[in-house]
Amino acid sequence: MDVKTVPTFKTAFENEVFQGLTAFPKFLSSKWFYDEQGDKLFQEIMKLPEYYPTRKEYAILEQLDVHAFEVDEEGFDLIELGAGDGFKTKVLLKKLREANIPFSYKPIDISQNALDGLSADLKNRFPKLDVEPLQGRYFTVLDELSKYSQRKKVILMLGSNLGNLPHPKAIEFLRQLGDTLNPQDLIFMGFDLKKDPAVILPAYNDSQGVTAAFNKNVLHRINRELKANFEVDHFRHVPLYDPETGTCKSFLMATQEMDVRIESLDLEVHFYKWETIHTEISQKYEHSVIKWLCSEAGLHPKTYFTDEEDYFADYILTKT
Ligand code: AVJ
Repeated sequence: MDVKTVPTFKTAFENEVFQGLTAFPKFLSSKWFYDEQGDKLFQEIMKLPEYYPTRKEYAILEQLDVHAFEVDEEGFDLIELGAGDGFKTKVLLKKLREANIPFSYKPIDISQNALDGLSADLKNRFPKLDVEPLQGRYFTVLDELSKYSQRKKVILMLGSNLGNLPHPKAIEFLRQLGDTLNPQDLIFMGFDLKKDPAVILPAYNDSQGVTAAFNKNVLHRINRELKANFEVDHFRHVPLYDPETGTCKSFLMATQEMDVRIESLDLEVHFYKWETIHTEISQKYEHSVIKWLCSEAGLHPKTYFTDEEDYFADYILTKT
């Protein structure tokens, strides 16, 4: 038997790049897209005419009656998972201020850089708003929070970020999120819905090539951080949408046979012509699937809000 010895690595990135590029078929997790360059590219994606989710969710938030959060005079903590530049959140913050609802805003992000930018911007826009940025992993921070705050909390996760997880992982994530909820707390979560494939595919294959650059950035990142020599131009960005499962999948595809050396891993990786690296899934949902995910995770989908074309939905989830 051929036994593959797996070396030990210094970082999770090294470890996962090794696992993904020595596997067949090859894969890399989309979470590695988001270094400084990747964050910038994603912000560009959100401005693309083809990338409808941002605009659709923005429209939903503009229409939203914030009393849906069911807050009393005690107020609440608005905790956001993965706030980014807060483009959509600012609509909500403005509404909550105007409704005179007392609240604090606690954005959680792994990137201190993103948090610093957001806090500075919010200081300007809403000088009186109580903002407490929290750096770290979602569940580490949420566990910390539940230790010292008994106030009602609303956990915000916009942008259909759950869609990067296959259903079993999404259920696990929702269950963990539910574990941090008290009975009066709620989750406000965005889901991108199934729709005409002719709308979905261009959102992941824009005419300006920003999404292609975003996908390929992971190879540049490996070159930068792990001393590799990927010839990035020899890979093509390939997105596919399966209307049956609702899964949009992105790949990097080698357009010629080649060998790549990754110095920090002491690894040579061979690519056949047309070989793929699977890099991302962006799941599109049906209401029945959202219901099923929630029930598997012990959550109750209380209500939802959609845009006029039913492209996107924001759900209020509570504990069952
Ligand atoms: C941030 C995960 C919601 O999957 O639509 C955008 C990321 N990838 N274009 C998505 C993304 C390619 C985005 N999410």
